[in-house]
Amino acid sequence: MSSTLFLYLSLIGACFFSANALPGFADKIYGVNIGSWLVLEPWMLPAEWESMGGEICQSNCSKCIASEFALAQAYPTTVDEKFKGHWETWFNQEDVDQLVDAGMNTVRVPLGYWIVEPLVNRTSEFYPKGGILELQRGLRQLSKAGITVILDHHALPGVASPGQMFAGRCTDDVQFYTPYNYHRALIWTAVMTALSHLDPNFSSVAALEAMNEPIMDATKTPGLGEFQKNFVQTVRAVEISLGIPVPGLKCPPSPRLSAANNVTSAFGMVSTLSSIFNPEVLRVLVDAVPVFEQVARQLRLNTAFSQGGLRRRLSRRKALVTNFMDVTWQYNNPSNPADAAIGPQAYDNHLYYSFGGVAAPNEKAYLTHVCNLDRIQNDAALGNSPLWFGEWGLSTQFNATDEFLCKWADAQKYSYSKGAGWLSWNFKIEISTLAGDTARQWSYMEGLRRGYFTKDPSQFHDPNVCAPYINNTSIDIIGT
Ligand SMILES: *[C@@H]1O[C@H](CO)[C@@H](O)[C@H](O)[C@H]1NC(C)=O
Ligand SMILES: *[C@@H]1O[C@H](CO)[C@@H](O)[C@H](O)[C@H]1NC(C)=O
Ligand SMILES: *[C@@H]1O[C@H](CO)[C@@H](O)[C@H](O)[C@H]1NC(C)=O
Ligand SMILES: *[C@@H]1O[C@H](CO)[C@@H](O)[C@H](O)[C@H]1NC(C)=O
Ligand SMILES: *[C@@H]1O[C@H](CO)[C@@H](O)[C@H](O)[C@H]1NC(C)=O
Ligand SMILES: *[C@@H]1O[C@H](CO)[C@@H](O)[C@H](O)[C@H]1NC(C)=O
Ligand SMILES: *[C@@H]1O[C@H](CO)[C@@H](O)[C@H](O)[C@H]1NC(C)=O
Repeated sequence: MSSTLFLYLSLIGACFFSANALPGFADKIYGVNIGSWLVLEPWMLPAEWESMGGEICQSNCSKCIASEFALAQAYPTTVDEKFKGHWETWFNQEDVDQLVDAGMNTVRVPLGYWIVEPLVNRTSEFYPKGGILELQRGLRQLSKAGITVILDHHALPGVASPGQMFAGRCTDDVQFYTPYNYHRALIWTAVMTALSHLDPNFSSVAALEAMNEPIMDATKTPGLGEFQKNFVQTVRAVEISLGIPVPGLKCPPSPRLSAANNVTSAFGMVSTLSSIFNPEVLRVLVDAVPVFEQVARQLRLNTAFSQGGLRRRLSRRKALVTNFMDVTWQYNNPSNPADAAIGPQAYDNHLYYSFGGVAAPNEKAYLTHVCNLDRIQNDAALGNSPLWFGEWGLSTQFNATDEFLCKWADAQKYSYSKGAGWLSWNFKIEISTLAGDTARQWSYMEGLRRGYFTKDPSQFHDPNVCAPYINNTSIDIIGT
């Protein structure tokens, strides 16, 4: 090999190193979100929502039954049954088969904190029960299909985003960014980490996302940097307690810990690791024990093993990839999640053109912007690599032609797959009179049926789709 070639390879090596460094993931992520399954957003299935007893309010979603919280509050005795029907029909084996046919190798599954039922204060918080059993069922189907899973803590305790159906409750009373709710989110994290490793149905879970879309103004999210660090420490503390090696984390050998033969005692003994983990994380582990036990009973999960059996069982498990929204999601001096990393970590960027502020509302500006996208490089410069695009779609601020949507799909896939890959929002949208045309630009499966997406997600209708737009700075690409 010539020294020039060698130099060249080592330079590009640095650029591409990250995409392959994620245990449990395909080299390139082609995926979708399983949205509106375990966190229901009425706008995506308005007819079903109305049939469940929900409402579609005109402007302000806090004014009618337009969130899981509002529906559970309105129908306290029948809400679990109503949601069971939804969970069973919105995502099932037929959908998994379609994902396989569509070449999807990964899914992101949005979850609410209430799926860990003991965390819900039933005197003031209203959510359906039984979702965890559906998650277990769906994950089993996904793992049999060989599809990698990102579990996404999407709707957080106390509500993390004002006026949003995706927050679980539509309200301006945002209480997530407080010690009490950070603590509950960390217990959730400990339970999900333990389930991912211990329940064979969870075996294709490879990443845990700390939180979906915090408020963008970092002055409104006090304590988020501390939470990011505690999130990673919680995942790693659970893994160390279960005997799963974490790359880059050397732990002092603990004979007591390696003798643990059940999850409760393993969690309990993590206090012996107090020199590594901060006191809040140790409190989380202690508080997580009874919560985990209750969830494990609900899932009929065996948590007791013969001496050494726990370790043998988990010897092939790999540390989870911890996952955060990228640092550029927020402004006003945000904390950088890269500072929290211990072991494998990945970053998530969401990009929607239809909400404004990205590019002027016309075809050329959209294509010019996405073809010259600099987010992957900018994030990498801040340590936020590898990066995937965990939410995006074909929606536009203007009436798009079929011809444009083919280009729009190609161009976004082209730019997003320069990073770790992409997961489109959403896998499906209800087809109904009430939903109108929503599916055309928001549903991957509908986009595939209509031919906007190629049958093989790694392919393009036109691999040169971006050629006319790259390196063209003659027009103003920023608009509102
Ligand atoms: C929605 O309604 C609530 C309750 O009346 C109010 O506090 C809030 O400011 C409204 N939000 C918007 C965006 O209008
Ligand atoms: C549950 O919520 C009620 C009402 O907000 C509150 O008074 C109570 O202290 C909460 N319970 C716990 C265990 O936090
Ligand atoms: C979970 O896994 C166990 C053991 O493989 C299996 O018996 C059970 O049916 C699975 N549960 C679900 C809901 O798929
Ligand atoms: C777990 O193990 C500890 C220590 O060996 C033991 O005291 C405890 O009873 C066990 N708990 C369960 C639920 O098996
Ligand atoms: C898009 O088309 C619809 C129906 O033809 C029309 O009512 C609407 O004004 C158009 N919107 C834009 C932004 O052109
Ligand atoms: C830049 O845009 C103009 C106007 O659409 C186009 O004619 C030209 O070919 C583009 N230049 C490059 C380098 O792509
Ligand atoms: C722009 O295009 C020209 C001609 O194709 C090329 O020489 C130049 O390197 C490009 N500049 C950038 C910043 O990509």
